[in-house]
Amino acid sequence: MASDKTVILITGANGGIGLEAVVALAQASACLHILLGARSLEKGQKALDEIRSSPSLPGGELKSAISVVQIEVTDQASILAARDHVAATFARLDVLVNNAGIIVIKPEYDTLADARETFETNVFGPLAVTEAFEPLLRKSSSPRVVHVSSEQGSVSLRLDPAYPSVNVRGDTYRMSKAALNMLAACHRHNFADWGCKVCAFNPGFCVTNLTGPRGREMRIKGGARPARDAGLALAEVVLGKRDEDVEKSGIVDVDGGVKPW
Ligand SMILES: NC(=O)c1ccc[n+]([C@@H]2O[C@H](COP(=O)([O-])OP(=O)(O)OC[C@H]3O[C@@H](n4cnc5c(N)ncnc54)[C@H](OP(=O)(O)O)[C@@H]3O)[C@@H](O)[C@H]2O)c1
Repeated sequence: MASDKTVILITGANGGIGLEAVVALAQASACLHILLGARSLEKGQKALDEIRSSPSLPGGELKSAISVVQIEVTDQASILAARDHVAATFARLDVLVNNAGIIVIKPEYDTLADARETFETNVFGPLAVTEAFEPLLRKSSSPRVVHVSSEQGSVSLRLDPAYPSVNVRGDTYRMSKAALNMLAACHRHNFADWGCKVCAFNPGFCVTNLTGPRGREMRIKGGARPARDAGLALAEVVLGKRDEDVEKSGIVDVDGGVKPW
């Protein structure tokens, strides 16, 4: 059954920035069907139940249709099952948001193992998911891919002594987001002939579970912004309200404009 609504899939949307983007989109329009991607159906359903039952969601009521889709971005069988579900239900996909991402936090630091694990989710995941969904995106009249990246992956900022995070290491995460930025650039070039808009998006430093519960506390103490800021900005990118920035060369920034590659 084809849908007249704009069909949007967001991976890793059971928490953090992905869930805030689901809420912001659902509040923005009744003409969307948002697929809340989660690697655990239970976690996805719980997140959806929570936002639906929240008595005072900032930003007002949820107008869009929302459903949960199981998608583990490091598991090809899971990706293909999600693709088949979207094909059978909607016959196309209008917007893919590759949001799922990790920072590996372990007591014992093992550079190579951590880098491999990080790349599996942050780089090979978006590569595999986009490849699987490309045929469905090609069926959209207004296709779009958003890769949720980070300014931590900016090569230019890494070497800028004035950049506030210059002394933060995080080499493997930075490398993975730099690779994701290149993937976004390749997709933008490769998909241009069928009108697919592609960008990398920088959410800024947000309060989420990306670095675990202790990390969340440190983020709050360190002045991180609410994840809702990033969710609202990501929703604007998805809805085409930031296309002036999407067409620039750089990482579309939460605060407007772009950050350098
Ligand atoms: N927070 C920041 O300051 C910040 C800054 C720049 C960029 N970002 C980027 O923003 C994106 C969202 O992160 P966040 O801050 O919102 O962190 P978060 O709260 O930890 O959310 C990450 C989401 O990704 C999911 N996920 C992780 N690995 C996955 C996998 N293999 N398959 C499917 N889903 C997976 C998580 O699911 P589970 O709940 O099951 O673990 C969770 O839903 C990431 O790409 C991150 O790199 C964040």
